[in-house]
Amino acid sequence: MIALGCDHGGYPLMKEVIAYLDAQGIPYENFGTYSEESVDYPVYAKKVAHAIVDGKCDKGILICGTGIGISIAANKVKGIRAALCGDVFSAKATREHNDANILAMGARVIGPGLALEIVKAFLETPFSNDERHIRRISQIED
Ligand code: RB5
Repeated sequence: MIALGCDHGGYPLMKEVIAYLDAQGIPYENFGTYSEESVDYPVYAKKVAHAIVDGKCDKGILICGTGIGISIAANKVKGIRAALCGDVFSAKATREHNDANILAMGARVIGPGLALEIVKAFLETPFSNDERHIRRISQIED
C-alpha cells in the first residue's frame, strides 16, 4: 500500500501520479490535500510518514512545489527516509542504497512525464540488502 500526500503546489502532479497508479492497479491511500487551495505541507508530510512508521503503508509519495519542504518535514519522523528525486537514476539508487521509504518530488521542478518514470523506478526497485548499506542506514537511525 502506497501512502500519498501533497500540498496545493503538488496537487496538479499528484493527480497524474494517481492516474498512473490506477492504470497500473497499484493500491494507495490518499491522505490529501485534495485541491489547489493553499495548505501547509508539513501536515501532509506527517500523515504519510506516520502511515509508514505505523505499518499501515509500505512506502509513500509526497509532492509539494519544490519537494523540499515536504521531504524535510517527513524526515523529522523517526524511521522515515524520504528522498527528493528529480531524476530516474537517483530514484533507483535511493531504493538500492538508502532503502528510502518515501519518494518526494517537486511539481514546479519536473514535468509529469519524468515524474512518472521516477515513480516507476522508485516503486519497482528493491533494496540491495548489501551489508554496507544496512550498516549505513542503521547509523542514520542512531
Ligand atoms: C508552497 O507555495 C510551496 O512553498 C511548497 O509547495 C513547497 O515548495 C515548499 O517547500
